[in-house]
Amino acid sequence: MAETPELEPYAINIDDYERIVFGFPVWASNFAPPLRTFIKNTPVLATKKIAAFACQSGAGAEKALEKLKECIGIKEFEATLVLIDPLTNYDYKQGDMLVAFIKKLNEEKEQQKSAEYETKKSELEKIKESVKDRPSVTINQEHYGYLYKCKECNNEILIKTNEGRYGNLGPFNCPVCNAHYYATIDDGGPNPFLYVAKYGEQPASLLDSEGQKRSEKIPLLYQELSPS
Ligand SMILES: Cc1cc2nc3c(=O)[nH]c(=O)nc-3n(C[C@H](O)[C@H](O)[C@H](O)COP(=O)(O)O)c2cc1C
Repeated sequence: MAETPELEPYAINIDDYERIVFGFPVWASNFAPPLRTFIKNTPVLATKKIAAFACQSGAGAEKALEKLKECIGIKEFEATLVLIDPLTNYDYKQGDMLVAFIKKLNEEKEQQKSAEYETKKSELEKIKESVKDRPSVTINQEHYGYLYKCKECNNEILIKTNEGRYGNLGPFNCPVCNAHYYATIDDGGPNPFLYVAKYGEQPASLLDSEGQKRSEKIPLLYQELSPS
């Protein structure tokens, strides 16, 4: 079979794709001929990542996949999958094979993600190491870390807080001089902030009605990572 049947009109910009996944029924141990037309019409295919899955009733898919590789002009597929009449014969085994195929396609991305996670983790460890000797106070949980210079004793203290969108975290004391403060968090945007006010003052806004600064906006020092 080497026909190249005419295809229905279609419009794709192949430059938008880095991977093409071919799916086809096996016909006489070959791939279905419309794919051949598409391949002939799309000369850049050999520069893309190519994966393929074949559906068959009995045998011939391996041969068909070999022929497809040859037709595209590539040495290897990124991943392949052979299913037996999946429309009428779908079962857990074929489902698992499908999941494994998709996992293989995501492998590179997963590896990239875990490399990025490791980089972030070591950056976070460096920051935490650099402030490990500061007196610290924990409000609820240890998700965010902020450095704050106590207005009473001038010691730089590490304040660890939980997440909160926007809301009052509550009172806390300076771990060195015991000065009373009140903390409000704003982590609704991309740059979380902690607002610290002297205890007893209204902490939610930065300025009072006379324009006096009453709570200090503390930029985030670090944030714990969520599992990759
Ligand atoms: C013309 C033709 C040739 C086929 N040749 C094969 C074959 O060589 N080996 C095989 O296992 N199945 C063969 N089949 C069966 C299909 O590959 C199989 O039924 C496929 O899973 C169903 O795809 P479909 O639902 O798109 O027809 C053939 C089917 C047709 C129509």
